Amino acid sequence: MKFESVAYMEWAKFRSSAPINLGQSGVPGLSLRDLPVGLEGCDINGDHAYGYPPLLEAIAARAGAHRDNVVPSHGASEAIFLACAALLDKGDRVLVEKPGYEPFISCAKAVGAEIHRWERRFEKGYGYDPDEFEAAIPDRTKLVLMTNPHNPSGAFIPREDVRALAQAAGRRGAMIFIDEIYLDSLDAARGRTAFGAADNIFTASSLTKVYGLSGLRCGWIVAPAPLARTLRRVVDHLSVLHVFIAEQIAARLFPHLEAIKETNRALHESNRKMVAEFIAAEPRLSWIEPPAGILGFPRVEGPAGGDALAEILKTRYGTSVVPGGFFEDPRHFRIGWGVAADVLAKGLENIRSALRD
Ligand SMILES: Cc1ncc(COP(=O)(O)O)c(C=O)c1O
Repeated sequence: MKFESVAYMEWAKFRSSAPINLGQSGVPGLSLRDLPVGLEGCDINGDHAYGYPPLLEAIAARAGAHRDNVVPSHGASEAIFLACAALLDKGDRVLVEKPGYEPFISCAKAVGAEIHRWERRFEKGYGYDPDEFEAAIPDRTKLVLMTNPHNPSGAFIPREDVRALAQAAGRRGAMIFIDEIYLDSLDAARGRTAFGAADNIFTASSLTKVYGLSGLRCGWIVAPAPLARTLRRVVDHLSVLHVFIAEQIAARLFPHLEAIKETNRALHESNRKMVAEFIAAEPRLSWIEPPAGILGFPRVEGPAGGDALAEILKTRYGTSVVPGGFFEDPRHFRIGWGVAADVLAKGLENIRSALRD
């Protein structure tokens, strides 16, 4: 295995910060003192061979699955690695959505897979087009890697379409890995996991984006039981165990997730409207307005596209957005609005000025 550097990760860790940061895709991180639970009775060591049982039960219950289906991971990041390591071998075919999250590609490359791309097109609302998907997926594809809601656009593919997509992939012999890390930002009816919609679907998520709990590294995969067993074999070669104390805190937090989400919901909704109105009023900007959530991927018309705008914003206006080049489309930029309304308003004002520079 050969691991290349992940350009987006380097940018996100060391170069994304700015006085006005609209580059983040999650809500601001919580601190221990914000939590509705305490640490009393938590311990360093305990029973968690393949996950702390109460946490497995909590994840399974939310997904409508059995705990045998659940494989905990250190964030959704490790879930991506587990999926690639468990299912792909040198030369195996993998289909990755485009635009897409760079670690999907770099991880599949690291295990030696042959990468094919499925273009989710702006003109089609970044959605599922059956003909284009059929044309993009080669025979004997082992794995499809996708997000839902989509990173970077926030577009959401409804469950019936996900099922159709999975069936089309199944005819080529592929399993589908759906990273649902942004799913909980939708309302409960739409935000139902795709696990169970077809036999070849497995899903991943974490408490990072929607709950501000990245530091717990509480991620997971929900997979058909035989695949879950294969994934656990990879865990035994990797971290072997998770951090018991973090698992205990996460398990205590599960009953409070709706309340944590609710504290931000109204702000995110009004922020999304603020961004939508801003884009509607800017002749050089267009986007696929996401149904909910806290991120979008506007297109900048003109020769200097999203990457150039991001650079001007950073250097002249102390404002950060993600250059679209990190998602393979430099005409765009990704904007996140999980911030205070006044910060967002100032950031949008700066975007307006930068567009006229
Ligand atoms: C699609 C996607 N998956 C996974 C991650 C990483 O999440 P985690 O903190 O759970 O490892 C991100 C973070 O940007 C992401 O956008």
